[in-house]
Amino acid sequence: MSKKPAADAPRETGRARIAASILDADLGNLAHAVRRVTSAGADRVHLDVMDAHFVPNLTFGAKTIKALRPRTTVPFDAHLMVSEPGRYIDEYLDAGCDSVTFHVEIDEPIVPTLKAIRAAGRAAGLAVKPATPLSTLERYAELLDIVLIMTVEPGFGGQAFMGDVLAAKAAGARELLRHKLYGGEIHVDGGINRETAETAGSLGVDVFVVGSALFVRGRDMGREIRLIRALADEGYQYGPNQGEPPIPHDRMATITSLPKHLAHRLMAEIEATGIPVVMLRGDGQINPDGVRDYDLLVPASVGAHVERTHGASRDRLLTEADAWRTELLARQG
Ligand code: DX5
Ligand code: ZN
Repeated sequence: MSKKPAADAPRETGRARIAASILDADLGNLAHAVRRVTSAGADRVHLDVMDAHFVPNLTFGAKTIKALRPRTTVPFDAHLMVSEPGRYIDEYLDAGCDSVTFHVEIDEPIVPTLKAIRAAGRAAGLAVKPATPLSTLERYAELLDIVLIMTVEPGFGGQAFMGDVLAAKAAGARELLRHKLYGGEIHVDGGINRETAETAGSLGVDVFVVGSALFVRGRDMGREIRLIRALADEGYQYGPNQGEPPIPHDRMATITSLPKHLAHRLMAEIEATGIPVVMLRGDGQINPDGVRDYDLLVPASVGAHVERTHGASRDRLLTEADAWRTELLARQG
């Protein structure tokens, strides 16, 4: 029996993630648009909020996002093209956005808003218009989870991709996210389609915002998403990854198996460095107390890093596990 994976199941292959912008969908039926893009396989929904002040166009706000939130479990990325994001930030967080990105070009303080997003446990991002230098983000770097590079002038879908802008900023954006061992994301927004995805992929982008290319009459949306994702991954593989297929950010790798109390210790140590750890009841050895060892998993993309930074600690805990087992056996007589 073949079972179709749920559209919102984590991707098992590839690196590129597609955030579908519903700006070019039927604005009279956004719930339908969200359902369409997510069942077509979009990894995220990208919500373009415009206030007719920061940009010469007006879309929707937090209330609309909140109404759309129950329609899918796919993450929501809000892109606020507004002059006063700080004034309304609580509403966007309350609406259930998983990440909130706003523009560095605004005239109000930026740090409090970034901090509010992070305090709510969401990812915080800053966006730069094509003409804005990346150096404007430097002083906020430590507070950033996302750097969004605009490759069109914000305001409208369907404009032409400015490849030179991305080429000039991609490496610098990665540098700005260097403090994030895991989970830092470069987003590219504007003009991504089957013609431009490979170039953007070769520049190391993580999340590809795609709007108008998904709403071309007569084209299958699911196929378009798969095609853009595959082209982006090819760009990455034959560019910066030197021919090696990319490791999906969400693929997990087992780093060790330990008795529960010791597994907890290693998990806490690793998580303190910002790397997520999953602890699973493994099928490893059964201890003298009758309980099996637990497996610890980290994202495969940081497996080598964890080995370097926590390998010694893991080895100490494995030795401690042996001593614990011996002692338990002795006590059981
Ligand atoms: C533009 C928006 C984009 C836009 C992308 O201001 O931020 O998200 O909708 O649309 P395309 O893919 O058509 O450039
Ligand atoms: Zn956008």
